[in-house]
Amino acid sequence: MSTPTFWRTSAHLSRRLIAAKQPYRCLSCSVRLAQELAQEQAKQDAKTTHFGFEHVPESEKESRVGAVFSSVASSYDTMNDLMSLYIHRLWKDRFVRSLNPGLHPTTSSLPSSKPTPQTILDIAGGTGDIAFRMLSHASTINNDHTSRVIVSDINPAMLSEGKKRSLETPWAGSERLSWVEANAEKLHMIEDESIDLYTVAFGIRNFTNKQAALSEAFRVLKPGGVFACLEFSKVNNAVLNGAYKRWSFGAIPLIGQLVAGDRESYQYLVESIEKFPSQREFAGMIERAGFMLPEPPWEDLMGGIAAIHKGVKPV
Ligand SMILES: C[S@@+](CC[C@H](N)C(=O)[O-])C[C@H]1O[C@@H](n2cnc3c(N)ncnc32)[C@H](O)[C@@H]1O
Repeated sequence: MSTPTFWRTSAHLSRRLIAAKQPYRCLSCSVRLAQELAQEQAKQDAKTTHFGFEHVPESEKESRVGAVFSSVASSYDTMNDLMSLYIHRLWKDRFVRSLNPGLHPTTSSLPSSKPTPQTILDIAGGTGDIAFRMLSHASTINNDHTSRVIVSDINPAMLSEGKKRSLETPWAGSERLSWVEANAEKLHMIEDESIDLYTVAFGIRNFTNKQAALSEAFRVLKPGGVFACLEFSKVNNAVLNGAYKRWSFGAIPLIGQLVAGDRESYQYLVESIEKFPSQREFAGMIERAGFMLPEPPWEDLMGGIAAIHKGVKPV
């Protein structure tokens, strides 16, 4: 327990004991006081979470993350290219290719199955990077001009950058692309079992309650629907890890300062990567939400700098 928290809690409980007009503190009162202090602490612990390396009350995290993405929204795409040396584009291409979105010519011609367009929900979709790739893949690879993508993000500034970018794509104003402002942990505007494919790229590590978001993913997916996540992860080679840590902690906040005039937001982004669970732990969280895991349950990209996790909702 931090010192100020300890004294605040102790003072609060002492006042309660005095108010109860106890002339002296007997042994059982002291035991009770200690128990109440422990309970108070447990409650406070339960309500705190990480914001990068900081411990913050859960109720604060959403607005602090919101401030980060409002601040980086206009420089987000340029910064992504610089920070990742353009590699994020390859990872996103790989992610989308591995999901093969859209109606597949091989399966949709089966006489017994009438193909229906896919509904794809891209959570924390930010500036639309995944959504545009999904639509492009569905159209050009699978010749599917009907499947659609809903981009959802909690941050209006990121969504408005995405909408601006969409004007340069063939899907500007199309019914195949829509935008929803929502917290991934409470998708009440999305019906149960209405989504074929749920994607989240570089978003989930920012959520306050990741397990709640996974449960929402499970709820909105149709039976047989796929959950897919692309996220920074744990590097499994010590030499690569050393070089990667030097780059991320040394260069990224500095690039943030020089290019976007915002060192702190980029410091948060690298710290949040450190705090994200390992591949194995995250696979366990996906399974706990009810999904079946494929074999292997994740795919490491560049030795685990990033990883793709998937889960299938049982039929
Ligand atoms: C690093 S960006 C990723 C954007 C995009 N998916 C990409 O790969 O370029 C993280 C996004 O997560 C969004 N985000 C953070 N917390 C969220 C939450 N609780 N619900 C939905 N989106 C959230 C942020 O607003 C931001 O747009």
